[in-house]
Amino acid sequence: MKQLYNDFFGEFGGRYVAEVLRSPLDELESAFVDALSDEAFMREFHRLLASYVGRPTPLLHAENVTRDVGGAQIYIKLEGLAATGAHKINNALGQALLARRMGKPRIIAETGAGQHGVATAAVCAKLGLQCRVYMGEVDMRRQKPNVFWMEMYGAEVVPVTSGARTLKDAVNEAMRDWSANFADTHYLLGSALGPSPFPDMVREFQSVIGTEVVSQLSALGVRPTTLVTCVGGGSNAMGFFSPYIHETEPELIGVEAGGRGPAQGDHAARMNGLGTPGIVQGYRSLFLLDDDGQVMPTHSVSAGLDYPGVGPQLAHLGQTGRVRFERATDSEALEGLQYFARKEGVIFALESAHAGMVAIRRAKELTPDEAVVINMSGRGDKDLFITARELDAERWKEFLTREAASL
Ligand SMILES: Cc1ncc(COP(=O)(O)O)c(C=O)c1O
Repeated sequence: MKQLYNDFFGEFGGRYVAEVLRSPLDELESAFVDALSDEAFMREFHRLLASYVGRPTPLLHAENVTRDVGGAQIYIKLEGLAATGAHKINNALGQALLARRMGKPRIIAETGAGQHGVATAAVCAKLGLQCRVYMGEVDMRRQKPNVFWMEMYGAEVVPVTSGARTLKDAVNEAMRDWSANFADTHYLLGSALGPSPFPDMVREFQSVIGTEVVSQLSALGVRPTTLVTCVGGGSNAMGFFSPYIHETEPELIGVEAGGRGPAQGDHAARMNGLGTPGIVQGYRSLFLLDDDGQVMPTHSVSAGLDYPGVGPQLAHLGQTGRVRFERATDSEALEGLQYFARKEGVIFALESAHAGMVAIRRAKELTPDEAVVINMSGRGDKDLFITARELDAERWKEFLTREAASL
């Protein structure tokens, strides 16, 4: 079998799975390597990225914010303008095409915020594949609109009631399903993590973000000083950073969820000494673990950053110093969301708003001949129920009460 790029990134990565999952992972790796070098497959992927997803997504020069901040030029990659509202669809489309190529008519996926679930459900509808999405019961309540949309696309959304009833538990359930059904089922994992080959595969399908940024900046004659994006598991970050990870420039900053603060259980930041090396869900990386090695609860206002582990390649790039990690708190993210909406007319997803605030901090330290590029990984429409409750509780409650009474 052809060997894919990496099983390990330094000490992180690998394939720590039950025997039963070895053969489906081998089969997937082989199919992926073949597909990457198959021109017809890649042509079809790029055709659908253009005609269905709406790529390339624009790169906006945020002139008002740049003027207001008074440092480097600020650019925003508007990834949230992709179909279904976030970067998640790039990877969902790539893997769904791969599943079709492998002759697997059934797709399963996990979802936290619901964005990956919505993207997967949409591409399954487009490609005529059967779709089941596992989602923690807590996330189903937090992200009700996304559950509605997944069902609208014809997917079956299965509530997960084990553990903390969030993303980690949904991944466990999807793995269980895959172990029993891999003959006709592909597990469409949503971030750059999990057992090999998922981290490589997700990065490759997301690398379209970084490739577009390189050519968009070059068309403008701009050399970036700094790239900033948010990190949940790391799929948008790996895609955005991918053209630059083997270079020494530009500076790459990953932003984690600082939540309510640094106390245990109040955030989802794993880098800068907060995470512990461990093996969870089939791969070795940095996780938020307690003294007994059990996964700790996390918190973030954004459901997409609320995961206890970080993708293995990002953990490695953090360790080597190629990617620097910072944190933004819940309240900073909410502040960022309002700032970009009012100043630039762009509504960031709560996840992306974490990166927006850190980008502003960094741009202030730089000069006007330098450039900071933010990846707005998603748009904020999906967060209406959270944002309105956080920022305008009284009027929102009044609205919901009136709506409920009219049913
Ligand atoms: C808009 C958005 N950004 C970022 C993330 C975090 O995921 P990742 O780190 O894999 O990009 C999510 C996850 O759901 C998301 O919906």
